[in-house]
Amino acid sequence: MIGAGGREHALAAAMARDCDVVVCPGNPGIEAAGLACTVQAPEAVSADLFVVGPEGPLVDGLADRLRACGRLVFGPGADGAQLEGSKAWMKDLLVEAGVPTAAHRSFDATEEEAALAYLRQLSGPYVVKTDGLAAGKGVLVTAALDEAIEDVRAKLSGAAFGAAGLRVVIEEGLTGEELSVMAVCDGSRAVPLAAAQDFKRACDGDTGPNTGGMGAYSPLAWAGTSLVDQVMDQAVEPTLVALAKRDIDYRGVLYAGVMQTAAGPRILEFNIRFGDPETQVVLPRWEGDVAAVLAAAAEGDLRVAAPPRFRAEAAVCVVVAAEGYPASPRTGDVIEGLDGVDELEGVEVFCAGVAQAGDGRLRTAGGRVLGITALGPSVTAARDLAYQAAGLISWPGAQYRRDIAERASGRLPG
Ligand code: AMP
Ligand code: GLY
Repeated sequence: MIGAGGREHALAAAMARDCDVVVCPGNPGIEAAGLACTVQAPEAVSADLFVVGPEGPLVDGLADRLRACGRLVFGPGADGAQLEGSKAWMKDLLVEAGVPTAAHRSFDATEEEAALAYLRQLSGPYVVKTDGLAAGKGVLVTAALDEAIEDVRAKLSGAAFGAAGLRVVIEEGLTGEELSVMAVCDGSRAVPLAAAQDFKRACDGDTGPNTGGMGAYSPLAWAGTSLVDQVMDQAVEPTLVALAKRDIDYRGVLYAGVMQTAAGPRILEFNIRFGDPETQVVLPRWEGDVAAVLAAAAEGDLRVAAPPRFRAEAAVCVVVAAEGYPASPRTGDVIEGLDGVDELEGVEVFCAGVAQAGDGRLRTAGGRVLGITALGPSVTAARDLAYQAAGLISWPGAQYRRDIAERASGRLPG
């Protein structure tokens, strides 16, 4: 398992139910949870299956390099990874594949005037995205035209996101409930995992800046299987066909970020890997041998593995972040309260931005520090337990949203 965050912790924990897992490099929190970690380069590790967690290495061609050495890899090559590495490339492919998405245009640094003119004739809310990778923070959604104009200038000048922002995608703002559908793909076939909802904004009530994600829950009683089927039929399958037309053999997760609008589902983005923190609620619900499914996809034939099944129980994940996240997280604080959480049944702590000091204690080392996932017979029960656990954790400036899965509480899992 390649990666060092909460997503990788959740994937490794789920795969470890059926096989031996080594996390490369992992982090001290993952190691403290009893999973083996190694600081060796992935190329130097020998394993029957390599699962690549984060988008950066995939965009940089890690899956290609491992495959060139004869390794079995779950994760797309650099060609397919462009779906996330360039939002403009992704939007072109969506249009080619006939996938429903927001009206948009992309502009580079020489086209600022045209970008601003396009922005001015939209009716708002306005959406401005960096073309390149920005850890979920490169998207501005605002009702204020002035703010959108400032953001276009800051991105195109390189001041805001460096090279990742030198091209922007400007699009119409859509409204509706969001869901994340992750599909496991073997190059020509795809199978969906249980849908999840992520909370992208930093603060309660969906206010504050966009983040990598501050919490998640699954299942979505309001979505049901028909919406997932629609996303598979209208977005995932046609995208795989369009990729194949470009000779791209896509073996890995295709993550569709979807908004359920009054006019039906619209694809906001594709990611080329498991969602974080969606994985922290979907993988604990996955029954059966996870690694066998990922290996079958990596081999190019999903049919040889039993299709994923999910427990009826609900899962809620609350991310506890460092003070200052997402702009400039404060690090180095001792994390207190983990022992108390260990004693709660039905709770798993997934470690992300975590390091260890000389005294052996775990300390904060990133923006999103812990993902606290609780399982329960309903979203309400799982949510109550997740917040009980989060309340036991502390370090100076620790922050988490209080409204994860709040609107979904009381609805029965579907
Ligand atoms: P993305 O990284 O493209 O998924 O964007 C991050 C977040 O920005 C999404 O999860 C949405 O909450 C929001 N967003 C992106 N595109 C739009 C859009 N066209 N309309 C409204 N909100 C959007
Ligand atoms: N949680 C959103 C993402 O993984 O991109």
